Amino acid sequence: MQRNHTTEINNARKPFRDAVFGAFGWLFPSLLTYDSDHFREWVGKLMRVLGIETSCDETGVAVYDSERGLLADSLYSQVEIHARYGGVVPELASRDHIRKTLPLIKEVLERSGTALSELDGIAYTSGPGLIGALLVGASVGRSLGMALDVPTIGVHHMEGHLLAPMLEDSPPSFPFVALLVSGGHTQLVQVEGIGRYTLLGESLDDAAGEAFDKVGKMLGLAYPGGPRVAALAESGTPGRFTFPRPMTNRPGLEFSFSGLKTFVRNTLAEELAKSAGNGAEPAVDQQTKADIAFAFEDAVVQTFVIKCRRALQQTGMRTLIIAGGVSANLRLRAGLQSMVEKEQSQLFYAKPRFCTDNGAMIAYAGCQRLLAGESDGLELNVRPRWPLASLPPLGGSSSS
Ligand code: KG4
Ligand code: ZN
Repeated sequence: MQRNHTTEINNARKPFRDAVFGAFGWLFPSLLTYDSDHFREWVGKLMRVLGIETSCDETGVAVYDSERGLLADSLYSQVEIHARYGGVVPELASRDHIRKTLPLIKEVLERSGTALSELDGIAYTSGPGLIGALLVGASVGRSLGMALDVPTIGVHHMEGHLLAPMLEDSPPSFPFVALLVSGGHTQLVQVEGIGRYTLLGESLDDAAGEAFDKVGKMLGLAYPGGPRVAALAESGTPGRFTFPRPMTNRPGLEFSFSGLKTFVRNTLAEELAKSAGNGAEPAVDQQTKADIAFAFEDAVVQTFVIKCRRALQQTGMRTLIIAGGVSANLRLRAGLQSMVEKEQSQLFYAKPRFCTDNGAMIAYAGCQRLLAGESDGLELNVRPRWPLASLPPLGGSSSS
């Protein structure tokens, strides 16, 4: 399944730019075409970056321009390949990234009207993620960088997610609290700036997305379960089941979703037992499944509402951002929105296609670090495990 987008260039600053460039153009006729390579070099702070994301089961590619914004992005999802196994098969993921990365790069360059020679840098996800999958993006990115003689940078996948709301028309300003909720991570992070991250709390066991996926499996839904559980919960009856909100009645900002998952399993088993009796095959009816999906989603949302409120109060911050696949969840967004309003705070998130894995967030994050003068060393580094808080502040030491 492939999705393509060519983004309208954000022209809000254009009149001012045109006036400034026009004046320079009058003074220096050779600079009249202000987006020529010559001018880019002269200004020094303009950069067009190709972003490549291959950390898991989606191949994402995008071109981000530091002045014009996101020019084009494309995503190929491997979901159909992995669906029949009920989860991602790492070897199949790597092989498919090999097939898709180059064609997607070609297509995104074409749609963004970018010649290879116009790229000023390459960003690729270098971790955390599946090692074989990461190696595909890293090898392509580094080889391309070497061939074009432009700097490359390995981007932390979760930093990409964390900065994805910056791609929106009204981006948040630093500092803020970030709730990162994906298939592999559930973290609350205090963010002072790019690379200035303090971990406030994280899941002690399953990530939120993982819990959604496992509950989806129990309810007989296809992989990935998250969006399907959310859709099923739409027809759920509020109040029929009430599930615990894990670790909310003790201080701290840690999470645990494994017990909640067991609660779902036990509830399903009880309902199955109740359905047996009149000689019919025991089965949990569709409405009961929807009611369970509702109770599960509600427990996750309320848990995040409680912990995010606590994080805002503890840090004294007034801005909350949510990022990662689970931040596409509408009930989570609504629950957090009403909480931040009561706290006189603001909530920011990316559009749904930039909540889940994508190349745009990698191009954006890489562009910021390349602009600050960072780039890879000579070695090819991928990091399947890589703590977010270990990243250097923007402009600090190289990421490799
Ligand atoms: O960020 P992401 O695309 O990949 C990782 O970095 O892990 O997140 C994928 C996760 C999956 O677990 C998926 O089920 C979950 O995000 N997800 C959702 C929703 N959309 C995606 N979970 C709940 N509600 C959704 N609407
Ligand atoms: Zn992700």
